[in-house]
Amino acid sequence: MSEQYVLGDVLISAEDISRRVDEMVTEMESHCRAEHFVMIGILRGSFMFLADLVRDLYQHGVHPRIDFITLESYGSGTVSSGNVKVTKDITVDVKDAEVLLIDDILDSGRTLAFASELMLQKGAKRVLTCTLLDKPERRVVPVKADFTGFTIPDEFVVGYGLDYDSRYGELPYIARVVLKA
Ligand code: IMP
Ligand code: MG
Repeated sequence: MSEQYVLGDVLISAEDISRRVDEMVTEMESHCRAEHFVMIGILRGSFMFLADLVRDLYQHGVHPRIDFITLESYGSGTVSSGNVKVTKDITVDVKDAEVLLIDDILDSGRTLAFASELMLQKGAKRVLTCTLLDKPERRVVPVKADFTGFTIPDEFVVGYGLDYDSRYGELPYIARVVLKA
């Protein structure tokens, strides 16, 4: 892509993320009690969010199996290609499991819809979904997460695991990226 994006202003601070993660864990912990409970992070964007969730859930006595799946629908830019493919699959067995899928952001909805369907195909008993951010204006596939951190406007954001061209994922907060003048 030829356009150049640079880091813009902060949209959600690290403190606000941490507070919301705490609240979300309180909302979800009663759904994490099954004997065969698996949390699956959708890479790459969910790595930081999942790490914070599982440490907080641990304080509530939740001991999940944890795995990751790498799904790709974006190229190197900010526009979705429209189809989702598995580039690295899970190895944990989800047959008859209660699965909690973790994603960074719900945008068109294609990724989460695809991942949920895939887990059911693999024999999961139940699939719940959790996303840190939601951009409802962008929805193409009608999907709603069971647990949502923040609803945000239709802007491309980075940080806390979300990247632009593999950059900015390390930021402890969520920021906008803006077109370079
Ligand atoms: P969806 O399949 O269109 O819902 O897209 C979901 C995936 O696109 C997310 O898991 C992100 O990896 C990526 N994505 C969507 N919006 C953004 C954004 O604003 N910043 C960074 N990545 C994004
Ligand atoms: Mg993602």
